[in-house]
Amino acid sequence: MDKLHIRGGQTLGGVLKVSGAKNAALPILAATLLTGEKTNIHNLPHLHDITTMMELLGCLGAGLTVDERLSIEIDGSSVTKLVAPYELVKTMRASILVLGPLLARFGAAEVSFPGGCAIGSRPVDLHLKGLEAMGASIAIEGGFIKATCPGGLRGAEITMETVTVGGTENLLMAATLASGRTTIRNAAREPEVVDLAQCLIAMGAKISGAGTSTIEIDGVPALSGADYTVMPDRIEAGTYLVAVAATGGKLRLEGAVPHHLDIVLDKLKESGASITTGANWIELDMEGRRPRAVGITTAPYPGFPTDMQAQFTALNTVAEGVGRVTETVFENRLIQTHEMNRMGADILIEGNTAIVTGRDKLTGAPVMASDLRASASLVIAGLVAGGETLVDRIYHIDRGYECIEEKLQQLGADIRRLPS
Ligand code: EPZ
Repeated sequence: MDKLHIRGGQTLGGVLKVSGAKNAALPILAATLLTGEKTNIHNLPHLHDITTMMELLGCLGAGLTVDERLSIEIDGSSVTKLVAPYELVKTMRASILVLGPLLARFGAAEVSFPGGCAIGSRPVDLHLKGLEAMGASIAIEGGFIKATCPGGLRGAEITMETVTVGGTENLLMAATLASGRTTIRNAAREPEVVDLAQCLIAMGAKISGAGTSTIEIDGVPALSGADYTVMPDRIEAGTYLVAVAATGGKLRLEGAVPHHLDIVLDKLKESGASITTGANWIELDMEGRRPRAVGITTAPYPGFPTDMQAQFTALNTVAEGVGRVTETVFENRLIQTHEMNRMGADILIEGNTAIVTGRDKLTGAPVMASDLRASASLVIAGLVAGGETLVDRIYHIDRGYECIEEKLQQLGADIRRLPS
């Protein structure tokens, strides 16, 4: 397995272009199954999860044409298979997002039941409850979700027990072709949900309220193809801002959308960064200062994003003062703290809260990544630590960060990939 070798201690700085958002691209690629016409999607990030989703679409029979910039044309007219196989679903849980589109367009779908992962059990019960409310019959057989709705889905009033991004996205996509109106209450408000809705509207869907907690969808008989550009990745943007802030440096991000990161930028200001923004750029400058510790409690958007929690935990390990980090979304998303303590961090876990007492510095060590954002936080810890850090199992990183070592090298980091 590839490893990342880091010699920490540099103050990072420079300019970076933000890639397309993985967590918008994945549902948008699944949405192309809703039409028998051709759909063109642009600004896809070069990530393992994206190629896995493309492989899944191909396995279902969709025609894919990819250009050198990873813009992709998907032809949904040749979709013949309605089964998402175990081999693909086990490598990427987001495969569950093909369930709603396949069921809505073809009246049947089989998706291998996605397992949990390092951060939690990751149930999909709310996806299934919502589809049943729309008239689907769902059975779990042999590790597969088998869904049918021969007469087609019908609009329904659905209130989500828990705010779920994927659940909202699956039901939003399914409702576009249901007969009648669907109302989704307590819907997720993430920018990635809004991006999906805008793509569906471009395909002819009738949707209002995306980005609020109540989304209304009036089903239409069919959707058409469209040409759509995926939004920039706010979590990638936030990750590099935190990495540079932790080293006391200065960073300009091109192609970032500031209002997607309001609360993250507020926390960076609280930590001592000076932040300036424009319509599509963000500039951070620590002016050489050591960051101050910040308190974090994760919550659904517009609250503090759980996908930025591990990165801020890393920042707090070398900040002035004590920062309390509380994870409320996933039951096991403080796991990276144990590896950070092996680097000399002072982190105490109390329930779902990490109490981080900042140290002057960390010491490099061999560490092991466990999930996508935890891996990024260990890279940040390596960048601020003295000595050498070796991050193992970085396939987790390759799922969500495009060319991470090249981008960090561009900022002055001493980091290289050691092929296995
Ligand atoms: C999406 O996962 C993201 N993934 C995650 O990003 C992100 O952390 C998460 O949303 C929260 O923002 C993609 O978009 C591909 P949820 P998702 O359903 O949809 C519970 C990353 O690092 N729940 O919003 O799977 C669940 O257990 C990844 O890029 C149910 O109980 O997350 C959790 O506690 C990690 N029943 C909470 O909801 C359900 O049916 C939020 O999960 C569904 C979810």
